[in-house]
Amino acid sequence: MRKPIIAGNWKMFKTRNEALKFIYAVSDKLPDIEKVDSVICAQFTVLRCLVKRQGENLRIGAQNLHFENEGAFTGEVSAPMLKEINVSYVIVGHSERRAMFNETDEAINKKLHKALEYDITPILCVGESLEQRESGQTEAHLAEQLEKDLAGLTAEQVKDIVIAYEPIWAIGTGKTATSEVANETCKFIREKIASMYDQDVADAIRIQYGGSVKLNNIHELMMMPHIDGALIGGASLDPEDFVKLVEAAVK
Ligand code: PGA
Repeated sequence: MRKPIIAGNWKMFKTRNEALKFIYAVSDKLPDIEKVDSVICAQFTVLRCLVKRQGENLRIGAQNLHFENEGAFTGEVSAPMLKEINVSYVIVGHSERRAMFNETDEAINKKLHKALEYDITPILCVGESLEQRESGQTEAHLAEQLEKDLAGLTAEQVKDIVIAYEPIWAIGTGKTATSEVANETCKFIREKIASMYDQDVADAIRIQYGGSVKLNNIHELMMMPHIDGALIGGASLDPEDFVKLVEAAVK
C-alpha cells in the first residue's frame, strides 16, 4: 500500500508572519504521519522558520532548487543550502516554472539528480496543455516528459520520487480533471514507469493529482486507485482547509 501524500504549494504567497500564523493554526491538528504525509512547499525566505516549527506530522518543502552546489547563479538556491536547514521535499518542474522561467527537461533532470543526491524528496510535476489534451497528445507528451526528466535515475531513486500529474489547463482555473480522467492519466504514468523500470517501482511510486483540488473534490479524487495524493495550490493557503484536505486523504 502506498502512503497518501498531500502537499500544499504556496507559490509566491505568505510573508513570515502569515506563514507563522498558518503553522501555529495547523500544529497538533494534522493526522498522524504514519497514515499520511503532509507537506507545505513554501517560498525560500520562510523555509527556515517553518522547519523549526514543523511539528511531528508536517514536513516542509521548497518550490525550486538549482542543479549546481554553488556558483555564479544570481538569485538561485542549491540543494546543500536546502539540506542545511532540513528541508525534506522540493517541487521540481512545476508548469509555472517551465512556462514562465523557461525550465527545460534537461535542467529538470539535473535538478532531480541533485535533490536525490542530497536526500531531499523531489515532487516532479508533469502535465499537458489544453491544446495537447484536445489534440490527443496527452500520453505522448507525458511519456516524453518522463523519459527526459528521469533520465539516468536508478530504480531505487525513482521509487522515492513523488510525481504530481498536473494538467496545465486545470491549475488555478477552477477546472478540475474529472476523477476518472485524472485516474486514467495517473494510471498511464504508472504504466510508463513500469515500462521504463519495472512493476515494483511502478507499484511503489506515489502519484499525486494537482489542479484546482478543493474540499469539494478531494474525496472523489482520493477514492481513485491510481491517485495517491494531491499537490494543492490555492486551497492550501487556509490552515483549516489544509487540515481538512489532509484528513480527506487518509484512507
Ligand atoms: P491550484 O494549483 O490548486 O491552485 O490549481 C495547483 C498547483 O499549481 O500545484
